[in-house]
Amino acid sequence: MATNLHLDFTEMSDKQERFFLSHKRFVAYGGARGGGKSWSVRAKSIMLAVKHAGIKILILRRTYKDLERNHVRELTPMLKDIAKYHAQEKYFKFPNGSIIELGYCANEGDALQYQGVEYDVIFIDEATQFTEQMFNLIFPSIRGANSFPHRMYLTCNPGGVGHEWVKRLFVSRQYTDSENPEDYEFIPATAFDNKVLLRTDPQYIDMLNRLPDGLREAWRDGNWDMLAGRYFAEFNRAVHVIEPFEIPAHWRRYRTIDYGLDCLACLWIAVNELGEYFVYREYAESDKIISLGAREIVNASTGEDIVYTTAPTDLWARSQESGKNKADLFRENGLALTKANNNREAGWLAIKDLLHIKNGESRLKIFNNCYNLIEHLPALQRDQKKPTDCMTEPHEITHLPDALRYFALSYTSPAPTPKKELTPIAQHEQQLLREIRRKNRW
Ligand SMILES: Nc1ncnc2c1ncn2[C@@H]1O[C@H](COP(=O)(O)OP(=O)(O)OP(=O)(O)O)[C@@H](O)[C@H]1O
Ligand SMILES: [Mg+2]
Repeated sequence: MATNLHLDFTEMSDKQERFFLSHKRFVAYGGARGGGKSWSVRAKSIMLAVKHAGIKILILRRTYKDLERNHVRELTPMLKDIAKYHAQEKYFKFPNGSIIELGYCANEGDALQYQGVEYDVIFIDEATQFTEQMFNLIFPSIRGANSFPHRMYLTCNPGGVGHEWVKRLFVSRQYTDSENPEDYEFIPATAFDNKVLLRTDPQYIDMLNRLPDGLREAWRDGNWDMLAGRYFAEFNRAVHVIEPFEIPAHWRRYRTIDYGLDCLACLWIAVNELGEYFVYREYAESDKIISLGAREIVNASTGEDIVYTTAPTDLWARSQESGKNKADLFRENGLALTKANNNREAGWLAIKDLLHIKNGESRLKIFNNCYNLIEHLPALQRDQKKPTDCMTEPHEITHLPDALRYFALSYTSPAPTPKKELTPIAQHEQQLLREIRRKNRW
């Protein structure tokens, strides 16, 4: 079988070789963009499948698109005549019984589907795009009552929603009591490692050199510290994330949206009489046209009295062709919008103020079903050039925090305290007081 296999190892870098030889339970290979990580995932998974008859391997990417572009398209011609591809279930079956399954994990619900399934080896390509919760749901699946290696291989670039947990486990090596430091190995990569890429695309390094400060050192040199610095260091799951509860009828409810070509994001926020904010629902959908997205948001709010919905001012820019703006389109589909204050730094400060913990409490609470906001808000990194602002990369984690920012800055006064029902005696006293005032012309 292996005789038909065309895998050329002659150009392997030292780092790739280390990745191939490592026997630790969790191995992360990462740092720079283009270091040869995805190639190594494909090559190593094939080698394991060929060497250990009957082994079960899973390769994961965050999105279906990435999986398709990065691995399905590359592996299909490589394994032609070697392993049979089952397109529906997305796995390659080798004649020796080994399987390479290809999966993706767009949200935490997707991660749950791997619970209870056993894999001998799992590869997570671009692990920094996975939330810590996803990793925690996935890694227990590496097990099996056989003599195969049971390992997890991760590849990663600094930045992304998983920057902090990957950095903690593999770069800073700070472990909890339940983690054994011996289980973890990190293989640092730089863009200069990949001789094939340097030869075939000599401009690649120039392109990396032109990246903004911070991102350049991260993606060219694999520097994990340049992107370090969580903007919302005050974020604390134990304080800010709460179990959902039924929102009292008199609390005022608001929505706030962010809309870009790649994502429509919406948060639902209830404010109580003490001026505490409760984010109770989230919506984040990519590639949604306005009419559909607007209607989905309105439907999700059925039966709720929403005071207003804030939105970024650029939605009011008129299209030259139709003369209409996006805010008009939202309104025509049932979602009337209110212009938000767009000042980034003041908006972030407003969120910081809400997150501030005093006596163990804060004014912003997020229901634990708002998975994306809970991952994205603490993952925002401080902009090294402009420390009062956040990085706008990775772009996909900015939408929900942006929506929160629009609301936090635009909302200034808390909901009024509900009127109390007066007892009959109190009503009588008030009536008397009104009469005395009238007589004495107070
Ligand atoms: N040992 C190798 N032999 C031949 N080609 C290689 C080798 N290593 C990497 N390449 C090629 O170099 C290019 C970049 O590699 P790859 O896509 O694996 O990098 P990466 O680190 O995953 O990049 P990114 O960070 O952008 O995901 C690809 O075309 C890949 O096929
Ligand atoms: Mg890659």
